[in-house]
Amino acid sequence: MSVRIVPSILSADFARLGEQIATVVAGGADWIHIDVMDGRFVPNITYGAKVIETVRKLTTLPLDVHLMVVEPEKFFDDFASAGANGMTVHAEVAPHLHRQLDRIRELGCRAGAAINPSTPLDAVREVIPELDLLLVMTVNPGYGAQKFIPYSIDKVRRARTMLTEARSRAALEVDGGIGRDTIHAVWDAGADTFVAGNAVFCAPDPEAEIGALRALCGVTV
Ligand code: DX5
Ligand code: ZN
Repeated sequence: MSVRIVPSILSADFARLGEQIATVVAGGADWIHIDVMDGRFVPNITYGAKVIETVRKLTTLPLDVHLMVVEPEKFFDDFASAGANGMTVHAEVAPHLHRQLDRIRELGCRAGAAINPSTPLDAVREVIPELDLLLVMTVNPGYGAQKFIPYSIDKVRRARTMLTEARSRAALEVDGGIGRDTIHAVWDAGADTFVAGNAVFCAPDPEAEIGALRALCGVTV
């Protein structure tokens, strides 16, 4: 199983965004994670299409957009036009998850569904055939640099079993508190795609940190 290391620009220095993106690209980042927050689904507000468009100009890597917003469908067209390659919506705010995932795919993007730590895997079970990515949150969304929730490891393990049983090829992504102390355990539990904000951008050498995290997954590239 391949490993994707996905730096989240939430912890980047926006005064030097171009340089910061170039650093993680040089370090072998697989995708760039862009956290969109609306101050409603989560307490924090971040950025939207303008930043996606900016990052699009800075790299050819796939842009993995995480929508922590209510009514995410309002943004799909703009984000796709801005250069998103994948969009992940939260099951907690998606009464029409099937329709939303369908629309994301229609726009040519990877369709993802995310679940908070308190949301059971059952919230996404029926839409597995529509999923290109399942994001199991390992912190409560809203901020970077939070502490990894240890019981997430068992949830990731159950998520992997669920995807395998459904013969799904969806990526299994984890997000929140991923770093040197936690990545091996979630990899071992079956995750293959690792978002890391603080661990990468606040490391003394962000370029080397990506390789260090990948090596801890127990695979070589
Ligand atoms: C949290 C965001 C994350 C965040 C992760 O709400 O969804 O993507 O950037 O940050 P770290 O890796 O610092 O926990
Ligand atoms: Zn995120």
